[in-house]
Amino acid sequence: MERLDEMKKVAQAMVAPGKGILAADESTGTIGKRLASIDTENTEGNRRAWREMLFRTDEAMRERVSGVILYDETLRQSASDGTPLVDLIRDAGAVPGIKVDKGAKPMALHPGETITEGLDGLRERLAEYHDLGARFAKWRAVITIAHPDADHQTPTRGAVLANAESLARYAALCQEAGIVPIVEPEVLMDGCHTIDRCEAVTRDVLVAVFDALRRHNVRMEAMVLKPNMIVSAADCDDRADVQTVAARTLSVLKDIVPSSVPGIAFLSGGQDDVTATAHLDAMNRRGDLPWSLTYSYGRALQQSTLRTWSGKAENVPAAQEEFSRRCRMNGLASTGEWSQEMEAGA
Ligand code: 13P
Repeated sequence: MERLDEMKKVAQAMVAPGKGILAADESTGTIGKRLASIDTENTEGNRRAWREMLFRTDEAMRERVSGVILYDETLRQSASDGTPLVDLIRDAGAVPGIKVDKGAKPMALHPGETITEGLDGLRERLAEYHDLGARFAKWRAVITIAHPDADHQTPTRGAVLANAESLARYAALCQEAGIVPIVEPEVLMDGCHTIDRCEAVTRDVLVAVFDALRRHNVRMEAMVLKPNMIVSAADCDDRADVQTVAARTLSVLKDIVPSSVPGIAFLSGGQDDVTATAHLDAMNRRGDLPWSLTYSYGRALQQSTLRTWSGKAENVPAAQEEFSRRCRMNGLASTGEWSQEMEAGA
């Protein structure tokens, strides 16, 4: 495989100790919802202003952000002074990446389930993204757990296998193009299921994903896994504590993820920001891990900064301070050096 050594180095840099990935790849629709929450219009200018502010947060970008996942628009966009946003990221020493899936769409004959689209024409799009500077990519598969009393129990075998196959085809195309794939099978925490159910479903999904990756000759040492943590559902009455989440998540990952995978970068999936940090820290404190464990958070890195910014230029310094703080907390969690007291004092 051409460029394998280069991809291995990129994958290792993405999960370097003390650093993690900023997921800033919300589609135009999704970023619109985030901006609406601060009464800010979803214009190209506002999307640029928000992301430029993040990428110009020097301390966070240099010390705590290994890579940034971008949406197509952002990869082609320039800052207010004309500097391409990709250059801001590269100049800070972080790797630019690109979301390449075209979204999770309703899966035919599978009520309540989705299949992620975007494979058609992907080879050509990856070649262009490589030319534009992207060195890693992301594809998100979405698995929904339905209430056991629902008419259709999900996930079905059909949806799990189809999504695993698509993730593997995407990953193979990425490596052919010299781009490191982030493989993201997300088991949603929507619903009221227990941590036991999340564990069983996540286990099945990861087994299917790694089977498919092997079947498609994907090189484990040139990819990064982006899984959900094993948690109680958002509306579950019986909530698992931090140590239980850490123990369950590690036990599943150790059973399934080969040690040749350089790193695992979790999504936050709707956990509140400090909880997502506490879970990552608890896993890293347990030690004895065959891969790096870090963050690839969207909401858990951006939410508090977005509120502080509120779309107003005069709030930029305070918002950058908040973004630095959240990145520092998670960077410390990626080496098991975070504590709740730091949240209060930082
Ligand atoms: P969250 O951390 O908000 O789940 O986003 C991560 C991501 O990239 C989802 O695809």
